[in-house]
Amino acid sequence: MNQKEDDAPVQTPYDDRLDIAHESCIVCALLHRFTVLLFDRQVDYEDIKPVDGPLYSPSKESYHPIRDACWALKQRVPYIAISRTFDEIEATSARLKIISTLRNFFRSVIILTPEDLTFCVYMCLNKVGPAYEGLELGIGETILMKAIAQATGRSLASIKADVTERGDVGIVAETSRSNQRTMFTPAKLTVRSVFSKLKDIAKMTGTASMNRKSDKIKEMFVACRHSEARFLMRSLGGKLRIGLAEQSVLVALAHATIYTPSNQVYPPHIIDASKGKAVDAFKKELDNGALLLKDAHCQCPNYDLVIPALLKYGIHELSEHCKLSPGVPLKPMLAHPTKGIHEVLKRLEDKSFACEYKYDGERAQIHLLDNGEVQIYSRNCENNTTKYPDIIMRMPEVKLDHINSFIIDTEAVAWDKEKQQILPFQILSTRKRKDVDANEIKVQVCVYAFDMLYCNGKSLVKETFEKRRSVLRSSFKEVEGEFVFAKSRISADTEEIGEFLDESIKGNCEGLMVKTLQIEATYEIAKRSHSWLKLKKDYLEGVGDTLDLVVIGGYLGKGKRTGTYGGFLLACYNDEDEEFQSICKIGTGFKDVELEQHTNFLKQQTIEKPKSYYRYDSSVQPDHWFEAVQVWEVKVADLSISPVHKAAAGIVDPEKGISLRFPRFLRIRDDKKPEEATTASQVAVLYRSQQNIVSASAGNEDFEDYY
Ligand SMILES: *[C@@H]1O[C@H](CO)[C@@H](O)[C@H](O)[C@H]1NC(C)=O
Ligand SMILES: *[C@@H]1O[C@H](CO)[C@@H](O)[C@H](O)[C@H]1NC(C)=O
Repeated sequence: MNQKEDDAPVQTPYDDRLDIAHESCIVCALLHRFTVLLFDRQVDYEDIKPVDGPLYSPSKESYHPIRDACWALKQRVPYIAISRTFDEIEATSARLKIISTLRNFFRSVIILTPEDLTFCVYMCLNKVGPAYEGLELGIGETILMKAIAQATGRSLASIKADVTERGDVGIVAETSRSNQRTMFTPAKLTVRSVFSKLKDIAKMTGTASMNRKSDKIKEMFVACRHSEARFLMRSLGGKLRIGLAEQSVLVALAHATIYTPSNQVYPPHIIDASKGKAVDAFKKELDNGALLLKDAHCQCPNYDLVIPALLKYGIHELSEHCKLSPGVPLKPMLAHPTKGIHEVLKRLEDKSFACEYKYDGERAQIHLLDNGEVQIYSRNCENNTTKYPDIIMRMPEVKLDHINSFIIDTEAVAWDKEKQQILPFQILSTRKRKDVDANEIKVQVCVYAFDMLYCNGKSLVKETFEKRRSVLRSSFKEVEGEFVFAKSRISADTEEIGEFLDESIKGNCEGLMVKTLQIEATYEIAKRSHSWLKLKKDYLEGVGDTLDLVVIGGYLGKGKRTGTYGGFLLACYNDEDEEFQSICKIGTGFKDVELEQHTNFLKQQTIEKPKSYYRYDSSVQPDHWFEAVQVWEVKVADLSISPVHKAAAGIVDPEKGISLRFPRFLRIRDDKKPEEATTASQVAVLYRSQQNIVSASAGNEDFEDYY
């Protein structure tokens, strides 16, 4: 970066005669204010002297983006301006205040130096470019401390001690700076010059680059004023630590362009668009703007493209200029975690939905460009094209002839070619991460395709999942073990979903993804959405509940289990009526030896017919009935109302009982008598508390839940 471009603000004589002359006259003051309000465009800003950098305060009430700025029209945004903004943001924890502070800073940039806006946004995000460029800052603390030591003449040991004490190399840099004496005053830093140096530093690789990095750091450091050193060091370390999330930056930016539209001629006609508008109406405008920008950013997560378009066309036309296109990764849609089938059904109510296996691999967004090039991006929009030469080679073979460009959403999963089965994620993670040679691949992958976002020049993100899925299926053909569609089932039946979940887990998957088909079924990247839910196998671990239940019947095993019992009928104890009420069948959690032991023991407990105090439905009639003698501890995923089982019948539901879903055997409770088993009323309590958890979590709209 050429230093001459980074001219410090030119000092212009400040003409405040107008203000002083009329200060004492209320009528004149009002009249002046009125003129400013009505004829803002006629106000001449030429004689305004920028605020002194260290005094810059974007958190100011009724901030004026020109009068309150610390630089003038067409001047480079000084680094002190963004440092002061960070300083004020760091000092508050109120999210709205953070956003309005950043918004005000952006308003000044938009009016005075729009060309610098992209750099300012990257600085706020502590990034030096779009994710798919793969450049990252993260200079080690030791290098930073050495640079501070060399530039200030302090000893490394004392700096280390300070950093240990203060816990922040930024603060230490800021306070060390004051001791330093320099021969000449270096040029003031600008956002643009700092950004370009940060980017240069991020690009330097290898141990030989250490000295060059250090020189660049020192060069910037000696030019730092006030809080600049603090934020420079933190930016270099990749830890800005001011509590600014990307979502807040986007909101602040959107708000800035609504308060002070970007595509205006200078001097701008609209300085503060909220003036004269009803608070509610304006708030709606702000919310809508934030959504528009978030959406544009998701479809095209590259600030180098989004920000110039925002400046040129304004926020309302942004979507026409920031379109999805192969070659630019988009943010993948994420699913909301759930706590069980109940919650899924509750959230989706009457909407139709599909369940898909949730494969345990890596998200792979595959792009086919018009020129025939194939690119692959990760969940975080990283460019992982060179990791998967094998997938790339398959694409011409699996796509149908009429498909010339596409973006599909898939999961790449490790695949055992010989056994024809899915391998766990741990195997996939051993695969080389880049520049893979197709001939040396040890871990094979199978691609499971589940969504299509772009097809032959057209975006599909606004189409329903039902439509996208059918386009996907008519655009590709399956090749076993290489490219197949995610296994799916359309059902709203609890038992059927339960079985499908079990199947998915037996097939080495993580559980299910549940997706609405028609209603609220667009590919949502920007908005909070509950149209994709995930039902993970952890759910089978249950709410941590175990029950102590009595074995009252056995089912003879088939296949591998011939000769022993393959399953058992369990019951809880109703201490009021003194009866055993069936609660579930159990067939999982047993080791082969255990099955044998149970069989040997229970064979001696068989009785001709069920006791009069056993409550059960004829549809669960076991092959053998047992005396109620043994108690088993059983772990359960969840409890549901059952038309078959009798546990707690009449307590929660007037007729139906409660059954356990996915019960797993833990151990025999020799210390418990059958009458000390879990009681019917305890079962009812468990069921109700689970319902409370479900409704509590259904109301929890916390964005942090997405991952
Ligand atoms: C991703 O990597 C591939 C292969 O290295 C390259 O051709 C492509 O341009 C990269 N994509 C972007 C957006 O930089
Ligand atoms: C994707 O590529 C980036 C850049 O090469 C690399 O850092 C990252 O580890 C890769 N991700 C995966 C999941 O392999």
